[in-house]
Amino acid sequence: MYSLDAPIGVIDSGVGGLTSVKEILNLLPGENIIYCGDNLNAPYGNRSADEIIALTKKMLNFLQSKNVKLVAVACNTISSTFESKEYEGYEKNFNFPILSVIEPAAEDVIRQHYKSVGVIATEFTIQTGCHKQLIQKMDPTIQVYGEPSKNLAMLIEQGDLNNPAIHNDIKQHIANLLSQHPLKEIVLGCTHYPIVQNIFESIAPNIKFINPARDQAISVKKHLKLLNILNPNISGTLEINTSGTSEIYTTILNELEINKDYSLNIIEF
Ligand code: DGL
Repeated sequence: MYSLDAPIGVIDSGVGGLTSVKEILNLLPGENIIYCGDNLNAPYGNRSADEIIALTKKMLNFLQSKNVKLVAVACNTISSTFESKEYEGYEKNFNFPILSVIEPAAEDVIRQHYKSVGVIATEFTIQTGCHKQLIQKMDPTIQVYGEPSKNLAMLIEQGDLNNPAIHNDIKQHIANLLSQHPLKEIVLGCTHYPIVQNIFESIAPNIKFINPARDQAISVKKHLKLLNILNPNISGTLEINTSGTSEIYTTILNELEINKDYSLNIIEF
């Protein structure tokens, strides 16, 4: 049994998971959050399933040593390793709930009654077909079109958000999707992408880009409530652990307007 003030873990290959942290802070301000970003090994999206699983286990081991009561996987690439049944072992090895970011996104697509959606995500995520599977399991009539990006997460991870390569990459992927399908909604299927959501919107102002972070935060709250382990505190703490450098965190926290005080440790998971 966990104490109510046990922390929540949030993991990502790098800084993308901060998009989920922002929403968890808004919805659950009393929770203590321990963030893990494996920036040294990011991006994960061009790696094999075995590599992603091994790297993820290291972060989960670290969080286990911190006695977390739940882990939100704020990474579509990692989520697709267990959602697509490539690997079902995380929950066998760890005794805290591990929540995917893809399931809440898929549920949102159903709730909003979209008839067809695009998904832009890493190569790994698109290859697993995970968004499509989860959405069509709930409603087989919904069309789901995937568009992989090899470089976008890495370009964002480099921290220069004005790099024209980011703009060009996004433009190309939107064009690839829209030239084949008359879409109105596109899921940002990598948690790095909502960091540059304004660029997506400036390129295709008539498209609704779906950021799953809010739905993931709602899913975290639902699970904590169900398990009766919501923290009743008014204000929790934010601890960031990264295998990379602190500069990128300053940049992205600033970009996302996350103003909360935090501590940052540079570690090897
Ligand atoms: N933030 C990630 C995701 O949601 C990671 C991208 C990557 O490391 O390639 O998929």
